[in-house]
Amino acid sequence: MAKIILCLFLVLLMGAHGAAKTDLSDEVILSELEDFDVEEGDDEAEFFDLPRWGVDRGNKILVNVDSFGAVGDGASDDTKAFVDAWKQACSTPKSVFLVPAGRSYLVNATRFRGPCAGRLRVQIEGTIVAPDDPKNWNFTKNGRIWLGFFYLTGVHFQGGGIIDGSGSKWWAASCKKNKTNPCIAAPTALTIYASSGIKVKGLTIQNGQQMNFVISRSDSIRITGVTVSAPGDSPNTDGIHITESTNVVLQNSKIGTGDDCVSIVNASSNIKMKRIYCGPGHGISIGSLGKDNSVGIVTRVVLDNAFLKGTTNGLRIKTWQGGSGYVRAVRFQNVRMQDVSNPIIIDQFYCDSPKSCQNQTSAIEISEIVYRNVSGTSKSKKAIKFACNDNVPCSHIVLNNINLETSDGTAEVYCNSATGIGYGYIHPSAECLNSDDKKINQKMEAGVDESREEYVVHTEL
Ligand SMILES: *[C@@H]1O[C@H](CO)[C@@H](O)[C@H](O)[C@H]1NC(C)=O
Ligand SMILES: *[C@@H]1O[C@H](CO)[C@@H](O)[C@H](O)[C@H]1NC(C)=O
Ligand SMILES: *[C@@H]1O[C@H](CO)[C@@H](O)[C@H](O)[C@H]1NC(C)=O
Ligand SMILES: *[C@@H]1O[C@H](CO)[C@@H](O)[C@H](O)[C@H]1NC(C)=O
Ligand SMILES: *[C@@H]1O[C@H](CO)[C@@H](O)[C@H](O)[C@H]1NC(C)=O
Ligand SMILES: *[C@@H]1O[C@H](CO)[C@@H](O)[C@H](O)[C@H]1NC(C)=O
Repeated sequence: MAKIILCLFLVLLMGAHGAAKTDLSDEVILSELEDFDVEEGDDEAEFFDLPRWGVDRGNKILVNVDSFGAVGDGASDDTKAFVDAWKQACSTPKSVFLVPAGRSYLVNATRFRGPCAGRLRVQIEGTIVAPDDPKNWNFTKNGRIWLGFFYLTGVHFQGGGIIDGSGSKWWAASCKKNKTNPCIAAPTALTIYASSGIKVKGLTIQNGQQMNFVISRSDSIRITGVTVSAPGDSPNTDGIHITESTNVVLQNSKIGTGDDCVSIVNASSNIKMKRIYCGPGHGISIGSLGKDNSVGIVTRVVLDNAFLKGTTNGLRIKTWQGGSGYVRAVRFQNVRMQDVSNPIIIDQFYCDSPKSCQNQTSAIEISEIVYRNVSGTSKSKKAIKFACNDNVPCSHIVLNNINLETSDGTAEVYCNSATGIGYGYIHPSAECLNSDDKKINQKMEAGVDESREEYVVHTEL
């Protein structure tokens, strides 16, 4: 039904505009938005079953960290064993770097570098824990990376194991926790950097010192069945942070943390998220972008099928004043919210700084954002908020089948400098979004007349 209405909507749009336009018109934009998708991949078949203990089976060569002297008692320093095992596994074709079950391995900041011989599997069954004392962290040497995987191609990470950043002392030392603390950055628990064709399945990443899992400068990444867990009050512990990366699929994952469940930042495109649970946390975010007058570009993002519970934001796009670049072609659909504070929010005045931010005229341009089938309960009155810069309006925002309400029935929509259209059921009603083109809205209303369905071409969207 929604598809049919949408087709009708596109047909009507074309009627409303005529075909002769040379610029990027509504009908072109919207049909492109409907069409684009990111390949999910056949993740099930390609993951590898762990062969029996210690043997070379199915042409896989097990490289067990225990064989390199790892102790796994959670207290002995197993860094060297991991580094040595990695050297072996990385240089041996079809090997499996194995972290066995039932033990806890204490590992210092380490960069596991490729390129490696073909078909490497990283099988994490046990727990890898970080040293917990910030005093022992050498930023000069390690930067902000605890476990970093660099320059890999076609590597699969799998297993039911845990990567634990042991972040509690880092959180206590954060200036967000105690204003007398200096504001210094903390490490990321797991980083995949400059890699491609990577799959990650089944792992748990928890208690990140700061961010839990970062995908940076990478392409073709599939993350399935991952759990991210950190306390709701742990500072800046983003769940999965995607930066300068393309063709990323994140699915069937459960994220609860103290910052964004997912954050997608600069130079990222073709990002697909499917079946995501988020809570606690700050929601699913594009941004922040544009800090310190920087360029921020994010395009082609889809979220399909998500449940957000008790988060401080739901579907969020956040940009700092003074940035440049754009966020374009984003589709959020089939999202349920429960007690979410800002279920739908675009904030072009984002300011995560101890000082208030100066007003600036430039901003990151936000357009072609679709929200479809979004329902549930809002903890704040402004269930839908489009706070856009007066000089750089948000445009081509589409709302379709929205039902958000507060417990006392007072949900409302806030718009500043935002234009777009709504169709289907929309509650709270979003008149403030009305496009300049009143004709489209009238046609839209006519379009929801089911008797006209027979005239619609049924295209798979
Ligand atoms: C790991 O970190 C501890 C504490 O800083 C240090 O004493 C130890 O030498 C490190 N291990 C390696 C292999 O560098
Ligand atoms: C930190 O690492 C750098 C570079 O490896 C080294 O020169 C320095 O001595 C280290 N600092 C400490 C306190 O260990
Ligand atoms: C904040 O840190 C200061 C200095 O370390 C300490 O004296 C104070 O008790 C801390 N405050 C809280 C609320 O933890
Ligand atoms: C954003 O990405 C673009 C393109 O890769 C790059 O030129 C720019 O420097 C990036 N901005 C920031 C803040 O890193
Ligand atoms: C920024 O703009 C807002 C709204 O136009 C205004 O209320 C506020 O005073 C301005 N702040 C500064 C620092 O100029
Ligand atoms: C929106 O929800 C309707 C009714 O539940 C469903 O039929 C339709 O497929 C959904 N739209 C999308 C794009 O999934």
